[in-house]
Amino acid sequence: MRAVILEGYGGPERLRTAQLPDPRPGPGQILVRAAASAVNPVDLEVRSGSAAANVSASFPMILGWDLSGEVVETGPGVSRFAVGDRVIAMSAQMATGVGTHAELVALDEAIAAHAPRGVSLRGAAALPLAGLTAAQALAVLDPSPGQTLLVTGAVGAVGGYAVQLATARGIEVVAYVRPQDTALAHELGAKQVATDGASLPTAACDLLLETAGVPEAISAVRDGGRAVSIVPSAKPEPERGIEVRMSFVEQDGAGLADLARLVEQGVLTLRVAEVFDYERAPEAHRRMAAGGTRGKLLVTP
Ligand SMILES: NC(=O)c1ccc[n+]([C@@H]2O[C@H](COP(=O)([O-])OP(=O)(O)OC[C@H]3O[C@@H](n4cnc5c(N)ncnc54)[C@H](OP(=O)(O)O)[C@@H]3O)[C@@H](O)[C@H]2O)c1
Repeated sequence: MRAVILEGYGGPERLRTAQLPDPRPGPGQILVRAAASAVNPVDLEVRSGSAAANVSASFPMILGWDLSGEVVETGPGVSRFAVGDRVIAMSAQMATGVGTHAELVALDEAIAAHAPRGVSLRGAAALPLAGLTAAQALAVLDPSPGQTLLVTGAVGAVGGYAVQLATARGIEVVAYVRPQDTALAHELGAKQVATDGASLPTAACDLLLETAGVPEAISAVRDGGRAVSIVPSAKPEPERGIEVRMSFVEQDGAGLADLARLVEQGVLTLRVAEVFDYERAPEAHRRMAAGGTRGKLLVTP
């Protein structure tokens, strides 16, 4: 099979397409022929070596966490999927070494879900990592209907899903975005939009979900409120009795199935900015590093 491999830490130019032996599904595993995977900020950290202390895979390494595709073989004991099923999955590549930028990926069935119907299989690769991160961070915040939630980076991959998930649950979202993203933030469901510190409400929001690396946004949370950050390098300092927690995405097939249902119901929209074939994977990394992308960058065989 063909795959995008990394032979040593470095810049995007270290990514190249290579032939590797086909993987075989072990017990409880499905073999998926990829329709697409996506690039996430974590892939840039793994590639550059900045996350090396947490990377368990050895070189040559296949990058990628998101996957959409079709089951082509099942291992012994697989009960939820059959050959021909369209699936999505999130593989915690950094910890497990199982990357998704490959034509064939063998994965535990527990981390996969049926792909949402009514959307392209390729586009469904925009959902897993960012969708699960948003859902799991919101679960930590545990907001109630009527509460106000400030989401920073609210039109980003994680932030955008968080805004849609929270709005659907009757939570009032205040979005913190770049000035040019005001209209998009409202489209996603935000009631209010702030584009700089001055336009943020002061000590007025019940909750904060911080995805943009702007820890100072904690100033918008009321005394005794709660904050969750997904950016470890920019954890907000607790102040005024505000509880601050970190959330790190975990593999979760059942959680993905819930998200797929929300896509089918129109609660979540999948946004794809650009599709890159394997040979253009370095360009996809450069695009992500440049910032300003709205929608996922997909990588396809
Ligand atoms: N803990 C976890 O498990 C986990 C999981 C997923 C992601 N993450 C981390 O979470 C962060 C977001 O990931 P993502 O995939 O959602 O990235 P993304 O799609 O690039 O979204 C980030 C958003 O924040 C915006 N932003 C950044 N700085 C800003 C500022 N100063 N003011 C206003 N907006 C700002 C970005 O705008 P521009 O593009 O214009 O800069 C972008 O819209 C990354 O740091 C990623 O590493 C953590």
